[in-house]
Amino acid sequence: DQARVSHVALDLRADFSARTLAGRATLTIDREARANEVVLDTRALTIEGISDPDGRGLQFALGPEDPILGQPLTVQLPERVREIRIDYRTSPTADALQWLSPEQTSGGKHPYLYSQGQAILTRTWIPTQDSPGIRQTYSARIVVPRELRAVMSAEHLTPDGVEVADGRAFEFRLTTPVPPYLIALAAGDIVFQPIGARTGVFAEPQVVKGAAAEFADLEGMVTRAEALLGPYRWGRYDVLVLPPSFPFGGMENPRLTFATPTILAGDRSLVSLIAHELAHSWSGNLVTNATWRDFWLNEGFTSYVELRIMEALYGPERAAMLEVLEHRELHEEITRLGGTESPDTILHVDLRGKDPDAGMTQIPYAKGAALLRLMEETVGRERFDAYLRSYFDRHAFSSITTDVFVKDVRSHLLDGKDDLASGLRLEEWLYRPGLPNNAPVPRSPALDAVEAQARAFAGGAKAPSVETGDWTTQEWQHFLTSLPPDLTSDRLADLDGTFRLTERRNSEVLFAWLRVAIRARYEPAMPALERFLTSQGRRKFLRPLYEDLMATHWGKPEARRIYARARPLYHSVATTTLDPIVGGN
Ligand code: BES
Ligand code: ZN
Repeated sequence: DQARVSHVALDLRADFSARTLAGRATLTIDREARANEVVLDTRALTIEGISDPDGRGLQFALGPEDPILGQPLTVQLPERVREIRIDYRTSPTADALQWLSPEQTSGGKHPYLYSQGQAILTRTWIPTQDSPGIRQTYSARIVVPRELRAVMSAEHLTPDGVEVADGRAFEFRLTTPVPPYLIALAAGDIVFQPIGARTGVFAEPQVVKGAAAEFADLEGMVTRAEALLGPYRWGRYDVLVLPPSFPFGGMENPRLTFATPTILAGDRSLVSLIAHELAHSWSGNLVTNATWRDFWLNEGFTSYVELRIMEALYGPERAAMLEVLEHRELHEEITRLGGTESPDTILHVDLRGKDPDAGMTQIPYAKGAALLRLMEETVGRERFDAYLRSYFDRHAFSSITTDVFVKDVRSHLLDGKDDLASGLRLEEWLYRPGLPNNAPVPRSPALDAVEAQARAFAGGAKAPSVETGDWTTQEWQHFLTSLPPDLTSDRLADLDGTFRLTERRNSEVLFAWLRVAIRARYEPAMPALERFLTSQGRRKFLRPLYEDLMATHWGKPEARRIYARARPLYHSVATTTLDPIVGGN
């Protein structure tokens, strides 16, 4: 509160052989007169020196290391100093950064680097105040080897770069303040293909065409989102398709969503993930959770808006299917977290002493989205939509807490009425575990029909009699997750022989099938399982598959063997989750 970072200017060089970023971060500090020091977050950074703008050295000290938070860096601020220059380098094992060898890319010729800041990893590559409540603008000059292109979550001032001594320099700037977890960098053999006037895709040359085809509706998505939420305030909206080790489905870095290649299904069936990341341009990037306890404000709003965009673009049936799938995942997650009394199922979750990454469950997403759906149903869509839009206008470019949300709902949606009277029961939704019994239950007639087919098969019907027609990805997902746990390997062989499930290329369908296959120890799917675990690093797919394997006596050694092979491919976000599950490295 007394000395806050308001702008970060980076001047860094990427050294792919040392696997370090090195150079300078110049921080602008918003200080009160009485503040005589500023405290920054760092983790595994080597600080070489700190000075004021005139080059006079400033005193600094690194505090004790916290295993989750890293080390505070305290810098003395002489009177009137408003800018500090920090010369530093990152560690080769910085958690935010993944340095890929050429073999880990599609092209196979050039190395690749990318960063992942959320939740508290930015401090492993930038010494700054790494809290979502402290918004900062940024600029950067990044030098990379000549044959690579650097991109960032900002305006690209020099798209082709500028030749410098052993390398190429790229300059960026973001003039709207964002929380530091949204500062993001990638460098590799990256090319661009436009889609619409303000949309396009960045990817390796081998991937970019397919990606542009997959995201053909991108411009339309932005237009639909604007109709719902108000103007898109970030200028361009592009998507960067990363190499397969990217640990998330997507990451909403401003102006440049980072996305896994596992959504390139070939038939646009997984583009709701892009709708989700785009929605974060409002919920998350424009209005941000002030602390990680309030993470549901980011993800719950976004999951709700994602479905509204999908509905506007592809119709209510598709949106309803996605909502039913999400609702099922919510129930499974509540069970996994220990049931309806578990404190981990509270939206305003207590993260004291924990890595905020632990709060990344289905709860903030699906329970949060269910609350917004309930708000919509309570006041009607027309009023709710007007509220939603005004919420983003009222809080634009600020970071807010759950408490601010509650007050906002009371004064702008419920007209001062208490929420008990309105039937909403906000207190219960936000501060108590489990799913309140006024939660809306989504329905999809298409998925009801799918469940009927799953029941028929479970009851003994042969696979060729299952009426799949031209089932979409979501119907296949639902069918597979609706199968009972006790199917034998023979029954799976019947399904597989009929529907060629082991050969599926759609990552979501294959994932759902592989879980079924592990449950029944269906051997013919095991090579595909191993291929899947060693060819992509998305944590959402990896964790359940390794957990399923580890839960069986035959699967345990298999999981360990595959993990030993695959671990070097994964990002630290994935290995941090998987190490305790599979048992160390
Ligand atoms: N912002 C999240 C990813 C994230 C959350 C990274 C917390 C680190 C900490 C992103 O928007 C997200 O939710 N991605 C999902 C996909 C989405 C469609 C549910 C993912 O990666 O699976
Ligand atoms: Zn999200």
